[in-house]
Amino acid sequence: MIDLEKAKQTFKEYVQNYNLDNPHIAEKVTHTYRTVNVAETIAKELNLEEEDRKLASIIALLHDIGRFEQLTNYHTYSDIESIDHGDLGVKILFEDKLIEKFIEDRKYDRIIYLAIKNHNKYKIQEGLEKQEQLHCKIVRDADKTDIFEVLTQDMQKGKGILYDYTKIGKQKISEEILNAYRENKQVESKYVKNEIDGYINMISFIYDYNFSIGLDIVKRNQYIDNMIRVVNIHKEQKKQFDELLEIANTYIEKRVSLKQKDTII
Ligand SMILES: [Fe+2]
Repeated sequence: MIDLEKAKQTFKEYVQNYNLDNPHIAEKVTHTYRTVNVAETIAKELNLEEEDRKLASIIALLHDIGRFEQLTNYHTYSDIESIDHGDLGVKILFEDKLIEKFIEDRKYDRIIYLAIKNHNKYKIQEGLEKQEQLHCKIVRDADKTDIFEVLTQDMQKGKGILYDYTKIGKQKISEEILNAYRENKQVESKYVKNEIDGYINMISFIYDYNFSIGLDIVKRNQYIDNMIRVVNIHKEQKKQFDELLEIANTYIEKRVSLKQKDTII
């Protein structure tokens, strides 16, 4: 059985090893707790059995475990500039055996490993079993949903810790990013050339949701409206950002109303 309370307590103790006065590290702790909440909502809405619900929660709790070492050692969130934090997470958990402090039962190791390793990849790896796929999908949707919350909170600060929003509103979006966005696709991060590309490609997370439940949360919190509004300050680009918002809202509306792909098989 999965003892979620014990796992949460262990997480709380684990993060004490890091500098919680660093706003980036503190933000990853709160991101983790909120991602657990979103994963719980998704698992509940999918009517999963208790064991899968707990598994979804513990995966969300551990999904960014590699971030604390990454931020401490490399002082960046950028996987490209440092190390892939999904891979680092599974190394810490399974090679260094930290997982044993979180969960006694070893039978869930493979699912937890795959879900964490795949949570930050462009696509989920091929050839996984149904339950493995399910947990990869839940954590990816939950993580994306809370990334929008993180950005919303960050942008309220004006010059946030993640972006200088006044600066990115003046940049030009690359063609590859725009074209993909218009086709409801996200591109691989190698195509991202500047901050605005990264920002727009982040909005394109909405095109990679597995279940509409997370998109419904995005809709209710007006995350995309907020993200576009904050950069929509320069008249010459306003038309383009208005178009991007319209495309996003049309897509979200369609997915949420049709409850597309909300099946676990
Ligand atoms: Fe992550």
